[in-house]
Amino acid sequence: MKLRVINKNIKNIKDKKVFLRVDFNVPIENGKIKDDGKIAAALPTIRFLLRYGCSLIIATHLGRPRGRDKKYSTQVVARRLSKLLGGKRVEFASGLSSSAIITKATGLKTGKILFLENLRFDKGEEKNSNKLARALASMAEIYVNDAFSVSHRKHASVSAIRKYLPSYCGLLMDLEIRNLDRVKQPQKPLVLIVGGAKIKTKISLIKNFKNKASKILIGGALANNFFKAQGLKIGKSLIDKESIRIAKGLTDKKIILPVDVIVDSKGRALVRDIKDISQNDRILDIGPKTIKLFSSYIKEAATVVWNGPLGMFEENDFKHGTLSIAIAVATRAKGRAFGVVGGGETIETLKISKVESHLDWISTGGGAMLAYLGGEDMPGL
Ligand code: 3PG
Repeated sequence: MKLRVINKNIKNIKDKKVFLRVDFNVPIENGKIKDDGKIAAALPTIRFLLRYGCSLIIATHLGRPRGRDKKYSTQVVARRLSKLLGGKRVEFASGLSSSAIITKATGLKTGKILFLENLRFDKGEEKNSNKLARALASMAEIYVNDAFSVSHRKHASVSAIRKYLPSYCGLLMDLEIRNLDRVKQPQKPLVLIVGGAKIKTKISLIKNFKNKASKILIGGALANNFFKAQGLKIGKSLIDKESIRIAKGLTDKKIILPVDVIVDSKGRALVRDIKDISQNDRILDIGPKTIKLFSSYIKEAATVVWNGPLGMFEENDFKHGTLSIAIAVATRAKGRAFGVVGGGETIETLKISKVESHLDWISTGGGAMLAYLGGEDMPGL
């Protein structure tokens, strides 16, 4: 996909006021940021714009608040940004689009940063309101979207705002699209690994890659719906009716399901053949034969794409499948295959396995990566 990316040739970029949409929707526990990767990923764009004397009005959403809620204030991410910029002052505006904040923004001096409060505190954000978009746009002369991970949402700061300002993409967005476009036009064989729980969010990806992929490996609770659709017994395992219905319509010999699993059976973790699940079993991981089978496909791949854990990796007894696949993907990537991983939990498993640096690209977008690769509409692009 061809994007209009910020570059030094943009007419008169110098000293411009820029409204920069970022995604600093980072995990926070007890008021502390657990992982600031998304903030760090936007630094090249911020530094680039500052180098050209721009002043920046930066905005993000954080979590899914219902109206104004202190717990979701973006002050904490504004502070972390300041720290990552080596202590540069980042002024925090404790609001969004009031006339006082618009005045403050329009008066911003060269090289200064004003960080706005959580965009989702205003109902207009998720309604793609023109009123909010106009107010945000009135603060700046140029709009830059560096928030790939929310660009599948039709929200005011991502979509409507582009009607009111000359719009560009940031450097992170550019990298995301370039790397994901390599997956859309893949070196073959392509192996797609899909885990997690709900098919609904992954259906377009699976459908879109049915022709391109040589194998689609399914794990996690997602696989339970396929087992059920095939009439297999799954005991007390997690399923949902809609996903079973979708799974029924998704039969293809490229789709590879686990042949064995690890179940929780009355508090004990046991390996079971997929045909031997008893009524008290809960399937919580892929089994050793499946790890071997999936790895054998990954070993042949020239492109590997992975989204969604293959089991309940948060628990010791059920983490081995996902962590083994993380290692298999990382071993193949950066050289023999082009390896791309996305989705918050999947990235967490790369960190646990200490193989993050072995991937070709780790997307900042979970849902956005699925939407982009699935060929869905991307209102932010
Ligand atoms: C994400 O974390 O995937 C993005 O920030 C989008 O968040 P959302 O799913 O709440 O829109």
